[in-house]
Amino acid sequence: MMETAPGAEVIINGRRCVYFGGTGYFGLQSHPEIIEAGIKAFRQYGLHVATSRTGFGNNPVLLEVEKKIAHFFGTEDAIYLPSGYLSNLILVQGLSQFYEKIFMDEGSHFSIRDAVHSAGKPVITFRHRDPEDLRIKIKEELKTGERPMVITDGLFPTFGLLAPVKDYILLIEEYDGLLCLDDAHAVGILGPKGRGTYDHFGLRGNRLYFGATLSKAFGGYGGFVPGNRDLLEKIRSSVGVYIGSTPAPTPVAAASIKAIDLVASHPEWREKLQWNTAYLKSGLRRLGLEVDDSPIPIAAWTMKTAEEMKKIQQQLFDRGVAIAYIKYVGAPAGGVLRVSIFSTHTRDHLDKLLTELKRIL
Ligand SMILES: Cc1ncc(COP(=O)(O)O)c(C=O)c1O
Repeated sequence: MMETAPGAEVIINGRRCVYFGGTGYFGLQSHPEIIEAGIKAFRQYGLHVATSRTGFGNNPVLLEVEKKIAHFFGTEDAIYLPSGYLSNLILVQGLSQFYEKIFMDEGSHFSIRDAVHSAGKPVITFRHRDPEDLRIKIKEELKTGERPMVITDGLFPTFGLLAPVKDYILLIEEYDGLLCLDDAHAVGILGPKGRGTYDHFGLRGNRLYFGATLSKAFGGYGGFVPGNRDLLEKIRSSVGVYIGSTPAPTPVAAASIKAIDLVASHPEWREKLQWNTAYLKSGLRRLGLEVDDSPIPIAAWTMKTAEEMKKIQQQLFDRGVAIAYIKYVGAPAGGVLRVSIFSTHTRDHLDKLLTELKRIL
C-alpha cells in the first residue's frame, strides 16, 4: 500500500523506503506546481465537462493541453485522451483507410492487443522484435495491392528494450505501409527533445505514427496521439472513443499542461536520468546481474525461481528499498525483478540499492 505520492522516497505499508518502482522517471507526480495547477483548474471548472468532446465538452484547459502536446512533439495538432491505453485504439481505427492488414509484435502491450481487432481487419503476429520474421510474415500474408500497418511498443516496458524501428521502416516503405508505436514509456525521456523512440533514432516521416501517455515520465495524466490536423480532425469526427467518452478530468488536464511545460523546460533532467541509469546499471553488472548498458532507465533481470526473486524483493524491502517483482507482458512465466531509475534518485539512493543487494546476493 503506497501511502505517499510516488517519488524517490515513499512510504509503503508504513515503511519509509527508497523507491525503484513505477514509471515516474522524473519524479513529477507530486511536483508542487503540477498540484497547484490542478487545484486552480478544479476550482474554476469543476471535476470534468460531463459530456463528450463533440458536445459541449471542450473547455480552454482541454484545448490548451492538446496545443501543448502538439508543440512538445513538433506536430500540427494532438488528440488528448482519458488514458494512454486508448491511444492504440485511436491509431488502429483512425488510420484504417491506410492499411488492409495489421502486423503486431507478439510481445506487444495489452493496450495494443486489445486495440488491433477493433478495426475488423486481419491481424498477424510476428516474433518479438524480429524484423526478419516480420518480412516473412508480410511476404506470406499480404496480397498484391494490400498495405500493412505494423504496430508495436516503441519501448517495451518489462526489460526496457527498444523495437528495431529502423528495420521496420525499410519494410513499410517497401510495402507502402505504416508504422505505429505505443510509446508510453519512451516519451519525455528518450531523444534529444524527449519526443520518444523516433526522436531517439532521429526518425520522422509521414508513415510514422505513435500514441503515448502523460502519466509516466511527464507526471501528468491521460493519453495522446500527435499528428497532422487533417487526419486528427477526421479522427475527432469518426472514432467512437473520442466521440462517445467523457474527456479526462479538467484538473488532470491542467496539471498535465504544467507537467509538459516542466519537462520541456528542463532538458537537464534527461541528462541526470542518463547519468543515474549508467551509474546504477554498471553497479548492477558489477554484482554479476545480467543488465544491459542502454540509456533506458529500466533494469530487469531474472533469477532461477520465482521464490528466489520474491525473497530478494522482500529482503530488500525489509532493508528500506522497494523494487518490483512483476509478471507484466513480456516477462517469462516466473516473472522478473525490475528496477526503474528516476532523475530524482540521489547517489545515496542508488548506492543504497547496490549495497543492500550486494549483502543479499
Ligand atoms: C506500454 C504501455 N502502453 C500503454 C499503457 C497505458 O497507459 P495509461 O496508464 O496512461 O493508460 C501502459 C501502462 O500504463 C504501458 O506500459
